[in-house]
Amino acid sequence: MSKFTIVSLPGDGIGKTVLPEAIRVLDAVGLDADYVHAEIGWEFWCSEGDPLPQRTIDLLKEHKIGLFGAITSKPKSDADAELAAHLRDRGLVYYSPIVAMRQHFNLDICARPCQTFKGNPLNFIRRDTQGGFEEPAVDTVIFRQNTEGLYGGVEWTNPPDNVYNALMTHPKFALNFGSAPRAELSVSTRIFTLRATERILRAAFEYAKKFGYKSVTVCEKPNVIRETSGMMLALGKEMAAEYANISLWDTNIDAQMMWLTKNPEDYGVIVAGNMFGDIISDGFAGLVGGLGFACSANVGEEVAVFEPTHGSAPKYANYETSIVNPIAMILSACMMLDHIGENERATKIRAAIAEVVEEGAIRTYDMMKMRGKPEVIEQGAASTTQMADAIIAKLN
Ligand code: NAI
Ligand code: MG
Repeated sequence: MSKFTIVSLPGDGIGKTVLPEAIRVLDAVGLDADYVHAEIGWEFWCSEGDPLPQRTIDLLKEHKIGLFGAITSKPKSDADAELAAHLRDRGLVYYSPIVAMRQHFNLDICARPCQTFKGNPLNFIRRDTQGGFEEPAVDTVIFRQNTEGLYGGVEWTNPPDNVYNALMTHPKFALNFGSAPRAELSVSTRIFTLRATERILRAAFEYAKKFGYKSVTVCEKPNVIRETSGMMLALGKEMAAEYANISLWDTNIDAQMMWLTKNPEDYGVIVAGNMFGDIISDGFAGLVGGLGFACSANVGEEVAVFEPTHGSAPKYANYETSIVNPIAMILSACMMLDHIGENERATKIRAAIAEVVEEGAIRTYDMMKMRGKPEVIEQGAASTTQMADAIIAKLN
């Protein structure tokens, strides 16, 4: 029996392409693991009316570690139209299996590292004062609360009596919204719990401590969103007192989005609620190569799932030779290795990626700033497999 059993969830589209490449790299670096295949995604919505079947939940529950590709989600009309005929009229409603997985296992801590690889043509550059350019090395890790806040799903259009009446007890609601017809109201709540807010802050500080980052930035908007953002900042300040060598900074989400295009190298660990964390991490990902490089971990108390930030990119899914960049998936596998205590193997893989990127001989189409189409291979872009091969060749 192998040392680890990992649940492999390729999902849809290019998830099916990039995940096997990551497993090839894990094998090449000598990880002693078995992979059990688990089914998730659009296909299972269509065929059985459930994009996250119970058998998949059971496998994750049993083995605790998931390596996930991506899934396809489509609008309601497509969900209804593509559902197998024998399942229609049963009142089945499509839901996002990713959100469901995060909520089922309370994967409340999402970490998204955004680190520059030297020589990546997609790196952020800016003008210096001499008329030249400089390329600051970004090394920022975003900790995003993954289960609450604006993505918590507590929302109504035309709220029912009890909700409406409760809202009317708030003076600002009565004043600003009390005269609008109820049927014309849409309400999405932003709920933070103390427990989850403490957990995401703790994860951020512990990470900063372990990897030697000098600052933790709470990025919210406490001057306006006084209760939820205010709670996160207040707890952050309290916690910072326990970490003598780490400074606590706080920024507002809007200003942060401007600063990350001016001085991104100043930020180490950033922590935020669900939606702001989502926004900041996409912003930073854009500075270090975009979706082909953006990896993530979703970590709960028992189960953890590692996945690239990108989706299933359906338009590239059925190419005879796959053109998409497997690096985001492979970096997600590295995060998994760190999580299971295989840090040395993770370091080796990251070093191999760094070498391949810096040499620049093997680049996928996104790194060559090409438009994705089958001809990119003839035009000199590496295929998904060639990129993984190049990384494997550097492992020694
Ligand atoms: P996407 O991330 O799948 O693709 C957007 C574009 O980014 C692609 O057209 C491609 O140009 C580029 N791209 C993505 N991954 C790349 C890679 N590895 N290498 C090179 N280029 C890459 O997002 P999109 O098109 O908005 O959504 C497609 C489907 O994916 C939808 O059904 C959506 O619901 C789903 N989705 C799933 C996610 C997940 O599984 N975590 C996250 C985001 C979207
Ligand atoms: Mg996003």
